[in-house]
Amino acid sequence: MSENPGSVQDVAQGLTEVGYLPGGSTALVSYLATRLGKPVLVEGPAGVGKTELAKALAKYLDRTLVRLQCYEGLDEAKALYEWNYRKQLLRIQAESSDAGWQDVQDDIFGEEFLLARPLMTAIASAEPVVLLIDEIDKTDQEFEAMLLELLSDFQISIPELGRIEAKTHPVVLLTSNNTRELTEALKRRCLYLWLDYPDLEHELEIVRLHSPELDEKVARKLVEIIHQVRELDLKKPPSIAESIDWARALILLGAEDIDQATFKETMSVIVKHRTDLDTVAARVGVKLEAADAQPAA
Ligand SMILES: Nc1ncnc2c1ncn2[C@@H]1O[C@H](COP(=O)(O)OP(=O)(O)OP(=O)(O)O)[C@@H](O)[C@H]1O
Ligand SMILES: [Mg+2]
Repeated sequence: MSENPGSVQDVAQGLTEVGYLPGGSTALVSYLATRLGKPVLVEGPAGVGKTELAKALAKYLDRTLVRLQCYEGLDEAKALYEWNYRKQLLRIQAESSDAGWQDVQDDIFGEEFLLARPLMTAIASAEPVVLLIDEIDKTDQEFEAMLLELLSDFQISIPELGRIEAKTHPVVLLTSNNTRELTEALKRRCLYLWLDYPDLEHELEIVRLHSPELDEKVARKLVEIIHQVRELDLKKPPSIAESIDWARALILLGAEDIDQATFKETMSVIVKHRTDLDTVAARVGVKLEAADAQPAA
């Protein structure tokens, strides 16, 4: 279905059907984004489903996902468009020597010689797409300013070619891990979605969706432990991604319970800093040991 969704409920159901379990305000903000045509800024810790939300929305809306992965030093040539210099050069060489420069110039600055990068692809697409601008906080403020213009006007000006206006309106998601504060100007133009670690029941559903083979009791224990671990003061608390990995690891190892020994063996799947490992072993591992020694009545 490529029409716009009719209600928040529709979006919640649609996302669920494609394997993304939206929490709290996720469905609401996604719905508003499709109806108001405003970009969404999705922020939150690593591994809580920011990128996945864009993928799921594209699947649900039956739209192509156009992805711009941001990094330090990303510039317009890689994000918007650049001229295909090689092709231009070949064309100039192939041109007979009596052709006037004006003719050649008109020719080599045509659309045929343009390399469309993600932002332009999204704007120029005949079918509406979902545009994911991933990890916008990795770029610098100049890039953000360029993006602002694009997100408010949905058009690109190419000096040699003129203006390219959007034929269709993309649904735009920008994600950020908050490594730097984004400008007020950008935030003002976006809807805001804060994705946090889910509550216990929600995370259990997500884990079970990704690993239905895992025994229900083990899955619950896994999520409970993850939540305990998150409460410790760690450099990098485990995310949903780690919960899912851990579930898969336990299935592979054929674990029937998460006892002290299993936990010790597998905790490097969820904790990935040397000092965090020590903290977790001391605090959670010991708790499990005590529980093992005292089987439930
Ligand atoms: N609500 C959800 N429903 C189903 N799966 C989810 C959900 N949230 C997260 N996941 C799963 O968690 C994993 C991590 O998600 P994702 O890569 O989107 O995280 P992220 O927030 O973009 O992290 P990073 O900031 O590191 O890029 C994915 O495998 C995704 O399928
Ligand atoms: Mg991501």
